[in-house]
Amino acid sequence: MEVRNLTPRMVVDELDRYVIGQHKAKRAVAIALRNRWRRQMVDERMREEISPKNIIMVGPTGVGKTEIARRLAKLSGAPFLKVEVSKFTEVGYVGRDVDSVIRDLVEVGASLVRAELSKKVRPQAKAQAEERVLDLLLPGGGGGASYTDRPGDPPKSTTRERLRELLRTGKLDDREVEVEVEESGSGLQVFPGMPMGEQMGQQLQDLFGRIARRKHKRKATVKEALRLLADEEAAKLVDREAVAREAVRRTEQLGVVFLDEIDKICSRENVRGGDVSREGVQRDLLPLVEGTTVATKYGPVRSDHVLFVAAGAFHMAKVSDLIPELQGRFPIRVELDSLTAEDFVRILREPDNSLLKQYASLLATEGVALEFDDEAIIALADAAWRANASLENIGARRLHTVMERVLEELSFEASELGEREVRITAVYVHERVDALLQDQDLSRHIL
Ligand SMILES: Nc1ncnc2c1ncn2[C@@H]1O[C@H](COP(=O)(O)OP(=O)(O)OP(=O)(O)O)[C@@H](O)[C@H]1O
Ligand SMILES: [Mg+2]
Repeated sequence: MEVRNLTPRMVVDELDRYVIGQHKAKRAVAIALRNRWRRQMVDERMREEISPKNIIMVGPTGVGKTEIARRLAKLSGAPFLKVEVSKFTEVGYVGRDVDSVIRDLVEVGASLVRAELSKKVRPQAKAQAEERVLDLLLPGGGGGASYTDRPGDPPKSTTRERLRELLRTGKLDDREVEVEVEESGSGLQVFPGMPMGEQMGQQLQDLFGRIARRKHKRKATVKEALRLLADEEAAKLVDREAVAREAVRRTEQLGVVFLDEIDKICSRENVRGGDVSREGVQRDLLPLVEGTTVATKYGPVRSDHVLFVAAGAFHMAKVSDLIPELQGRFPIRVELDSLTAEDFVRILREPDNSLLKQYASLLATEGVALEFDDEAIIALADAAWRANASLENIGARRLHTVMERVLEELSFEASELGEREVRITAVYVHERVDALLQDQDLSRHIL
């Protein structure tokens, strides 16, 4: 299967490319991920006994909790869903029932599987699309229809084959043809919170989807038509049953649900108001975490072995404020460290997607080669750190606002500068943020 077989060390190495520090958290998620794989390997009887060791990540805002989870999902190829727990109310998740978390997760799994299977049938789909485009270009068949020729066969010197040559070398790309394509996407959305069962809503949506999915003709360039028809052929070639089966399997065995802001549903005895409903939300969540079976359009999905990773700042509440049943289901606790000014320097510079690299590539499109002095990077990190200290600590998120502020003029003028190098110095940074940092009121709005 396409799920990558990664050792904990490989996972940590991979996470290191994007997230600075937070070693304990990286190790914990890497182990949890590996344990899913290990569990797959043990014999069936034992496998059923092994339940996932769910994790709670505790740490201040903006230090990488969500980022770790997001990267973990990307690199593992497992179905992954991020849920804001604070959006749960006692009646459900933004008006939907809690089971919809599993329905959404299996939907993610289905898209993953569908994408993988479509990739496999791509060559065949492309070949079929080519034939259909040739049919469009040669309504009469073009002398010796070679519809049954396989793509690898030597070209015949028929009109069709000469056209095929032109098509393959891209010479017909801009020619217009009329294609008949299936309109996807249902015309009607069933609103969440509509007073009907989730299941019934789904069925209605499918029904309207089918009605709305009519064939219709439209003009397209040959290039576009090849792509459209290849997509359509791929969709036909992918076996829906197989997608459903594998989506369910993968969701049950490998799914990861990230419960963000879990602390928002913690209540403390001495805090008045809202406690009852918060505890209610925890009770609603419990079956999912303990293992339940949810009916989905791909079939029943068991949540017993889904891995839950919860995260929260836990400023006001503690993990021990969660109801005991829920605490028991999250045996692994990791604390994330608050970030230092040195971490900020590394965050600016090191990750593959670092802010400095992002700005440099944006401005490169204008012909501006952006460079940062080492001292300038230190000044940026320092400004962010000072803003966090004097205003509110929002972690690495502060780097975004500081960068935006420092590069504001340049971002505006870059289009008119022409080909040139721009070097950001420490002085340049200080000129743009120091005065702001002195003025609390002003910086509150700008930084
Ligand atoms: N340790 C880190 N290394 C690299 N980038 C980081 C790190 N921590 C945070 N960032 C960056 O800061 C931003 C916010 O981080 P993230 O979303 O992970 O915060 P969080 O810990 O989930 O905070 P919250 O509790 O507010 O949800 C992201 O753009 C992320 O890339
Ligand atoms: Mg977060």
